[in-house]
Amino acid sequence: MLSKKSIIDIDSLTVEEVSQILERTDSFLEVSKRDVKKVPALRGKTIVNLFFEPSTRTKTSFEIAAKRLSADIINFSASTSSLKKGESIFDTLKTILAMSVDLIVVRHNCSGTVKLISKTIDIPVINAGDGKYQHPTQALLDLYTIKKRFNDFNGLKAAVVGDIVNSRVARSDIELFKKMGIDVTIVAPSMLLPDNMDYYGTEVKNCIDDVIEDADIIYMLRMQFERQDRKIYPSVREYNKFLGLNTGRLKKMKQGSIVMHPGPVNRGIEISEEVMNASGELAGKLEIENQVTNGVAVRMALLYLILS
Ligand code: NCD
Repeated sequence: MLSKKSIIDIDSLTVEEVSQILERTDSFLEVSKRDVKKVPALRGKTIVNLFFEPSTRTKTSFEIAAKRLSADIINFSASTSSLKKGESIFDTLKTILAMSVDLIVVRHNCSGTVKLISKTIDIPVINAGDGKYQHPTQALLDLYTIKKRFNDFNGLKAAVVGDIVNSRVARSDIELFKKMGIDVTIVAPSMLLPDNMDYYGTEVKNCIDDVIEDADIIYMLRMQFERQDRKIYPSVREYNKFLGLNTGRLKKMKQGSIVMHPGPVNRGIEISEEVMNASGELAGKLEIENQVTNGVAVRMALLYLILS
């Protein structure tokens, strides 16, 4: 189903394809736990990581995933490339393609660029995050993390909290969670919501206290200061008051419920220091590190299904 397919957005993935990715992820998670974390599945394939925007976990995650599958992966960083000498993205792509590459992973700060790239070349492209538009592999790893904890999506309630308007993670996660039957509520004040809220078709609340006791999943977004062309929220204090996750709120969460965040976390803004350093039962609610671990396995599954 996924053979040679580009992964640009959630909309173009079917429920069957998503289920296939999640199923395949189980076996690659097992590989990642072995002493020798490598299988020969993609030996001889060449993948290029093409990142036009800073990234730690997504870029590293794709790199580790490719290496565990025995593919060759080359990191191309825009800041040290010929783009700096005035070469266009498309000429850069032509150069990369002339080297017989099998798949490229692209991150770009402009929404829509990855889709455009995928239309102009005939090898599969994976969107590793473009502007405020989509981040489909983040959504898939988040969904997998939820599956590991709850097994079944039906009847689950997720609250996505924070900077919705600037977040490609919010867009992809909300679409994917809904597609798979999870009930989604958005928690944000009006200035952090997009104009086209009908598009999401979800309930909207303005304060985290409105959902904290009832949600199975509290999905905290990062406050995307770098994408805010103007100051859209009065102060960090206000943000903490209405949207921040602190220990008091964590304690109110129901049994079995979890907290997620795509990283990197702005400590003290969306999640308090105290929560980030929690131990014992409370720490057991935090899935942030598991998201990172699962991210490698999900990306292995995707690369495998597309390229093998
Ligand atoms: C996200 C991103 O870059 O979109 N991070 C990530 O991929 N791990 C979320 C964010 O930066 O807020």
